Amino acid sequence: MVQPYKHEPFTDFTIEENKKAFEEALKQVKEELGQHHDLLIDGDRIRTDNTITSTNPADTKQVVGTVSKANEDLAEKAVQSAATAFEDWRKWDPRARAELLFRAAHIIRRRKHEFSAYLVYEVGKPWKEADADTAEAIDFLEYYGRQMIELKEGKPVESRPGEQNRYIYTSTGVAVVIPPWNLAFAIMAGTTVAPLVTGSTVVMKPASNSPVIAAKFVEVLEEAGLPKGVLNFVPGSGGEVGDYLVDHPKTALISFTGSRDVGTRIIKRASEIQEGQNHLKQVIAEMGGKDTVVVDKEANIETAVDAIIVSAFGFSGQKCSSGSRAVVHEDVYDEVLEKVKERAEQLTVGNASEENVYMGPVVDQGAYDKIMSYMEVGKEEGRLVTGGKGDDSKGYFIEPTVFADLAPDSRMQQEEIFGPVVCFTKARNFDEAIDIANNTEYGLTGAVISDNREHLEKAKYDFHVGNLYFNRNCTGAIVGYQPFGGFKMSGTDSKAGGPDYLALHMQAKTISEMF
Ligand code: SER
Repeated sequence: MVQPYKHEPFTDFTIEENKKAFEEALKQVKEELGQHHDLLIDGDRIRTDNTITSTNPADTKQVVGTVSKANEDLAEKAVQSAATAFEDWRKWDPRARAELLFRAAHIIRRRKHEFSAYLVYEVGKPWKEADADTAEAIDFLEYYGRQMIELKEGKPVESRPGEQNRYIYTSTGVAVVIPPWNLAFAIMAGTTVAPLVTGSTVVMKPASNSPVIAAKFVEVLEEAGLPKGVLNFVPGSGGEVGDYLVDHPKTALISFTGSRDVGTRIIKRASEIQEGQNHLKQVIAEMGGKDTVVVDKEANIETAVDAIIVSAFGFSGQKCSSGSRAVVHEDVYDEVLEKVKERAEQLTVGNASEENVYMGPVVDQGAYDKIMSYMEVGKEEGRLVTGGKGDDSKGYFIEPTVFADLAPDSRMQQEEIFGPVVCFTKARNFDEAIDIANNTEYGLTGAVISDNREHLEKAKYDFHVGNLYFNRNCTGAIVGYQPFGGFKMSGTDSKAGGPDYLALHMQAKTISEMF
């Protein structure tokens, strides 16, 4: 019997023993940094002359590791290998595939701090965020494994006398997985194992900012017993390898998480039928967000301040779920703004591999430059309340930044900045606050802080987001508890960590027999 699913607990770093254990992991991983990781195609390790170098965004001279870089020829080999392996893998007992995920979860759990330490070095995560990222990776393995066991028998349908009808789920084929760098472990692992456990085979192209944690995860799956060819690992550029994999006539499913521009481009390319292709490609695309925390006039102000701070500045605002907009009722606007300013000024920013800071750097020079350019836009469109400065001399550090008095349709309130910046807009009443919250092309997450039950009921229908939270922050969805995915330009709303997720990776088949 498989134990019922329960999410992986987070580590409490205020406990001295946990703090010590994590410091020890950081020390150990530091000694391993700089290693090279090969491609994996058809079970073979392949080393290329071209490489991707992954560095620590908090200390750009520190090399976390290098990975071999695939080209079109190698991408072709990877797809062929996945297509061949599919014929056996799809016939594995779904339970055996699920058990492989459970074994992988155990391996990660045993070495939990080691993986979290890699996340600290590779993407600059503060300890708490790194620990949550690793916990979520474990959750995806445990949750999707159980879901596959449930799906194994299909779903009940009716049968008439003399007839037997069945409704089952079958494996799809070659899946191309293109994960992001922000939930560098969780989303990478979750989007990889979902097709795997359903019997599809995978070609994974990791994010260029976080290929080392992906290489470590590939090793875990091999250790757990994944047969050759079932998972192929091909770091490479989006323009070359990404497009090649998306366009390939043997690609059956594409699971992408990242920006709106890349996501919509993939959807368009995947709809083009290639020579030799005899199926439609399924696309799962989870893209951006411009998420709002709405504060009502009848609200607990401390809850509101806490929700805004956590939503805006957790992992330096680099989550698609980050609350980069605060829409606050005019009666409490000044009070909430002042308290958010005070709290933002107390947050610590630094290198999490040296100390347990609240906020690390942003991920790379491109992100740093883009976010800093928005500081100028914010000063023109609104009022800088705190922050606004950055320092990229050693790593890509940006102060927690608060802008006030933004018009709802200003660039600051419309465009995804993906950094530690929150913008305030004043609303005259609750209806107007919801209208402003909905006034973006995205629809991923949102929070409402209110003690007014009628307003909360109204928000349930009128606040158009895939993940709606009441009296809490709008980030940190937990697998199996808060299935995650958004409306509008935020994506295909496939709800990662939700009860329908695996079925979206499969093809339902009806079998009807007369006796
Ligand atoms: N699932 C994450 C969250 O809820 C974002 O990807 O914050």
